[in-house]
Parts: sequence; C-alpha cells; structure tokens
Amino acid sequence: MSRATACANIALIKYWGKRDENLMLSTKSSLSVTLDSLKTVTEVEFSQTDSLSINGIKASDEVLVKFTKFLDQFRKKFGMNQNFLIESFNNFPTAAGLASSASGFAALTVALNDLCKLNLDKKELSMVARLGSGSASRSVYGGFVVWNKGLNTDGSDSFAEQIFTSDYWPELRVIIVVVQSSKKKISSSRAMQISVNTSPSYNDWVKRSELRIKPMIEAIERRNLDALGVLAEADCLEMHATMHDSVPSINYLTDKTLRIVDLVKNLRRSSVQCYFTIDAGPNVKIITTVSNQELILQNLKNVDGVEQVIVSKIA
Ligand code: PMV
Repeated sequence: MSRATACANIALIKYWGKRDENLMLSTKSSLSVTLDSLKTVTEVEFSQTDSLSINGIKASDEVLVKFTKFLDQFRKKFGMNQNFLIESFNNFPTAAGLASSASGFAALTVALNDLCKLNLDKKELSMVARLGSGSASRSVYGGFVVWNKGLNTDGSDSFAEQIFTSDYWPELRVIIVVVQSSKKKISSSRAMQISVNTSPSYNDWVKRSELRIKPMIEAIERRNLDALGVLAEADCLEMHATMHDSVPSINYLTDKTLRIVDLVKNLRRSSVQCYFTIDAGPNVKIITTVSNQELILQNLKNVDGVEQVIVSKIA
C-alpha cells in the first residue's frame, strides 16, 4: 500500500476552459497558491477491480467515472493493466468549490507513482495529475505555482512549476469562508465547456487574464498584497462574468457569497488589507496577511450563513 498527501490550491489567476477535453489542456495559463490547511490523504493498493472511497464512503457513479477515466489514461500511459483500490480522506468539504479534485488527483498521482515504482519527477507528476483535473497539476507543488498552458497538442509542455516557495511570503494567509458545504450543482468541467462554447466575453477574458500573470508574479515578488489582490479580484470577477453571460447562464454565487464579498470591501474601506477570490462554488477565500487575520475572523462572526471558517498558510 502507498500513501500520499497533497494540499488544495487556490488560483489567483484562474484556469477556466479547456483546449483539449481529453488531455485536460487549458486555454490559458494560471497561477495559484497551495493551501496548507486543505489536505487530502490518499491510500492506494493493487486490487482485482478499481474502487474508490472518499472519507470512508463509496464514491458516487459520477465521481467514479472521472477517476476511472484518469486510471485508464494512467494505465495506457505507463503500459499497465492493474486495478486499484483507492481510499481518499479530505479534511475539508468535498466538491463545494474548495478544490478537492486538485488535492485528490495530486495525492493519487503521487501515491500511484510510489506504488508502481515509476520514479516520476515533479514535472511528470504534474502532467499526470493534470489528466485527472486541470488544477491538480498545480497541487503537486507547495508555495506559489504557475501552470503553463503549453502549446503542444500532446500536452507535453503543459505542466506546473513552482515560482516561489511558501517561506518566500510567510505572512500571507487565505481565510476560507464556507457558506455552503454541500456538493455544487454543476461540475466545473461541464460549466467550463458551456463558457468556452457560448460566453461572448470568454475570449476577451482569456487574453486579459493571460496578461495578468506577469504583474501577479511581480506582486508576489514584491510581497505587495494590494497589487496581488486587485489582480486576483479582477480575474475572479471576469471569470464569473463568463459564466453569467453563458447560455444557459451559470451562477455559483449566492446571497451568502455576496455578503462575504461586501464584508471584504467594507473592511478595505476601513484600511484592512484583504481581498477575495471565488472558484466554481459559493464559498469565498479571503486573501490577507497574518496581522489582519484576527480582525477579519471577528467580523466574520457577525455575518449570517457562515458554516465554517478555515485559516490557511501557504503550504
Ligand atoms: O480543475 P478543476 O476542473 O476543478 O477546475 C478548477 C477551476 C477553478 O477552480 C474555478 C479555477 C482554478 O484555476 O482552479
């Protein structure tokens, strides 16, 4: 049996949309931070058939289809025919836009690499994890990570790389505000397809978002939270706009989400440095530094509808 741990990540510059559905190749590059508090531990062993449990419960058919597709690609890539028993444990809500697929496929890839004695390096691990879930390509690293979209049709140049280690900016914090821990209504894969195929603003967002990568790297390099936050909020809001103007329109944001966004904006008006980002779900991640953490946590106590608050350092 092999066991591996991986952490979820939150994109500051988002991935949303594929140029190749099968190889999970993104239309654009993205940049993330890996979150120390959101962990998946995965155990894997050889077995007669493929099976998967998450937090001790047999995976749903929908999840199993995704994992079987990944395992089939894995077997094909490495010329294997074994089946696997997979047990995965998350210390955070699964499939509620908290990147459980990122940490899940990253942990599974690392565990399979160990079990099958493949000796893959980080770049190869990133490319294999990508086949399970695009964002998983970034979760094989800690710290600050860029997933380069790559240009090759076979995906051979589409992998993530660490740009700064976690100790480069030890004061940085992400406060994860869970307003809904149940499963999301529409999978990110399906929602992405709809945005790519129907959103009139999609291509413009891709261009603008790509242009944010360089200034975002500079913001991190200078440890400039305001510069980072302005870029992250713009990128997140424009990504959600591509969902809203899709046909049919997709909306992951709820009243509770918007209450947290308002709180972040109000805190900023009173000179508390904090910014928000939101993925394919209603939960909000507040980006700040350790000196503002307590004040933000106090303020969150007064907001209706908050189910859970998780403070994370960079992993
Ligand atoms: O990797 P997926 O299919 O879970 O997609 C993740 C998409 C976002 O979380 C919304 C953005 C991102 O870059 O992580």
